[in-house]
Amino acid sequence: MPDTELLSLQTDHLRILQQRYQQALEAEGYDALLISSGAAPLRYGDDQAWHFQGYGPFLHWTGLTGQEHSWLLIRPGERPVLWLYQPVDFWHATPELPGEPWQESMEIQASERTEAPALGDIGKKEGVGKLAVIGDPACLSGVGGDHNPPALLAALDETRVHKTRYEVACLARANSIALDGHRAAREAFLAGGSEFEVNLAYQRATGQREADAPYHSIIGINEHAGTLHYQYYGSDAPKPPRSLLIDAGVRFRGYCSDITRTTAGPSDPRFAALIHGLDQIQQRLCSMVAPGVEYIDIHRKAHQGIAALLSASDLVTGLDDEAMITEGVTRAFFPHGVGHLLGVQVHDVAGKPTPPPADAPFLRLTRTLEPGMVVTIEPGLYFIPSLLEPLLAGPVAKHLNQPLITELQGCGGIRIEDNVVVTDTGFRNLTRPDGA
Ligand code: GLY
Ligand code: MN
Ligand code: MN
Repeated sequence: MPDTELLSLQTDHLRILQQRYQQALEAEGYDALLISSGAAPLRYGDDQAWHFQGYGPFLHWTGLTGQEHSWLLIRPGERPVLWLYQPVDFWHATPELPGEPWQESMEIQASERTEAPALGDIGKKEGVGKLAVIGDPACLSGVGGDHNPPALLAALDETRVHKTRYEVACLARANSIALDGHRAAREAFLAGGSEFEVNLAYQRATGQREADAPYHSIIGINEHAGTLHYQYYGSDAPKPPRSLLIDAGVRFRGYCSDITRTTAGPSDPRFAALIHGLDQIQQRLCSMVAPGVEYIDIHRKAHQGIAALLSASDLVTGLDDEAMITEGVTRAFFPHGVGHLLGVQVHDVAGKPTPPPADAPFLRLTRTLEPGMVVTIEPGLYFIPSLLEPLLAGPVAKHLNQPLITELQGCGGIRIEDNVVVTDTGFRNLTRPDGA
């Protein structure tokens, strides 16, 4: 999509946000809302700060991930006012805004203060009326108004559930950039690279340093692929390289991609076959995405698919698919939820208006799908010793192919994750735009 089209969609996006926020504020009895962008806290006992990425509602309006100590005022029927923190500072660069059309939808002021703006002289003489202020409480002390009122926060979270066309376009771009990274990562692995080198290849191809990415990339070679959120980068390439699991995304104008791919090494055809089997299941799950579908049903369908795959691959024998699910066998191989909402946060808000059911305690999305939602579909199949050992010591042990499990434990596990939009009639897979 040419940038002019994207930029014009952004203007529409802001118009839609103005309406959604107006409704939420009126429903909760507020005349104005002040949003803090936040600020990176210092590490305890240190003068170094954690990486900063910005508060969700501020990103929803501005997409500006690097703007600390900035403030945005929203009022029904009025142009938003954005105070951008722009100190005179010879230690740090001051973020500069490239001129773009969205800035005409707001009044933008530079500020050298980290504190909230004085609102007394804004709008009517008597000030802005009943004010809510939202953001990291560490940034709000001394600011007037109601801080983070829960009902309003819940209503504002709801404004992020149905993505505008602008947001879907940004998520699509975040996918296409990350896919370049995934291709480079796979090549680096197949060329014998270590986790560290795979990470370098990913960052080089995406042009985004990890501090700006939506989450720390998960890059596991061999048994490390079996740790769901493996957080280190080994600098030695294990020999032989049997598997790579990489779960990595990028941000584009604040919007996140969240993609996982698993690759088998050249000497592991059985593992490669398992990856192929899980990929087919994953594609079927993606094609279930449609308005009116219960997301929990996609999660449960994943368990059915994994049960069938465990049978077909001889990992489990003599136990029917339903029994594998009720006996907790599939849960031991696939312990997490099938996915979540995606947006300006990788695990986007408002996914659980109702808590997850007992058979899916880690599921982050319990809603009925509706057009405009963007979800991940990410089934997995892992060989995690701490989850498999109780099964191997229990009554279902006789159904488990222990030698094969032991052999494949060295490959860690598989996850395949795509980002999927619920359309008016079905789905659009942003991660496989050509159906590949
Ligand atoms: N990358 C974290 C997740 O897939 O949820
Ligand atoms: Mn992921
Ligand atoms: Mn995910």
